Amino acid sequence: MIILGIETSCDETAAAIIQTNTKDDRSIIISSKLATSMATHAATGGIIPETAAREQIKYIIPVIRETLEKAGISVQNARKHIDAIAVTYGPGLIGSLLVGVETAKTLALVWDKPLIPVNHLFGHIYANWLNLSPNEPNDPPLFPAIALIVSGGHTDLVLMKNHQQIVWLGGTRDDAAGEALDKTGRLLHLPYPGGIAIEQKAKHGNPKAYHLPRPIMYDKGYDFSFSGLKTAVLREVQMQKELSEQFVADISLAMQTAIFDVLVYKTINAAKEYQAASIILGGGVSANQTLRQRFISAIEKKVKFFAPVPHLSTDNAAMIAAAGFYHHQTLDYQEVTANPQLYFD
Ligand code: KG4
Ligand code: ZN
Repeated sequence: MIILGIETSCDETAAAIIQTNTKDDRSIIISSKLATSMATHAATGGIIPETAAREQIKYIIPVIRETLEKAGISVQNARKHIDAIAVTYGPGLIGSLLVGVETAKTLALVWDKPLIPVNHLFGHIYANWLNLSPNEPNDPPLFPAIALIVSGGHTDLVLMKNHQQIVWLGGTRDDAAGEALDKTGRLLHLPYPGGIAIEQKAKHGNPKAYHLPRPIMYDKGYDFSFSGLKTAVLREVQMQKELSEQFVADISLAMQTAIFDVLVYKTINAAKEYQAASIILGGGVSANQTLRQRFISAIEKKVKFFAPVPHLSTDNAAMIAAAGFYHHQTLDYQEVTANPQLYFD
């Protein structure tokens, strides 16, 4: 199958064409394009939903057109080549979601193609079922798998018994891991998004300088809580006369280590409890090299570790197309509506 994926849940406008391959349980990316309004949000220190939606409107048609062109498909011929359209219908910002959903519905109607509504969170998981090139085949994750979704909006632990049986184990009670990093970045006057800036600063930090709490790390279950950490950072910031380079590096490292300790500990525990064959990461924070290294060092030899390449960890449309293939609930275009509150069932 050739699937056109569309992703507009937040500040990225993305389209991708993938070719699915049931034989080796992997999909190949034929073309993938993305426009981001991150620079606009960096100027205001965070995302203003209205601005994000306006930028989506500006980019959606050019991005889809370029994705088709890159795949060697002309707009006039698209109907012949595309078998289905997968689109993120939630969770996300309502104004942004509507742009992708309504565009996908229009294309499905005009091209007479099935429309597959995709949960963005499943998309982050299925980034691990993508192949960048047919010449570099790699094995897909094995089941049962524990998936950790760590993004700006979500921190969730999920058990995948197989493609159909997906069980939510726990999630954050307040801030998501990426959100906590972004808010800390703002306290430290770092550029948006804070997660990337903190990763850079933390490289020069002294691990003995500050110790922050590991919230609810030893509590039963698989919930997380990161909002208190940001308050702990605020207290340290208020005690400084000025934010020196070394202070920013030290507190960045302390923040990152506290969050990653909890993420790694809980994920490894879940993998043990459910005898997972694989641990899968997804979402923007999984682009962090330190987090990946922490998992690689902590994981038992018999458990396989998967994390998408960094540009597939953050929002993209190839992952939406891949998730659409495995969760192939095609609906009449009239039944598909954006759902900003969508979560796991
Ligand atoms: O998945 P994503 O692109 O969008 C959402 O669905 O939220 O994730 C964005 C989040 C932001 O919070 C950003 O700070 C974080 O991912 N992020 C990182 C890194 N790259 C992006 N966090 C830590 N290290 C990174 N390298
Ligand atoms: Zn995302």
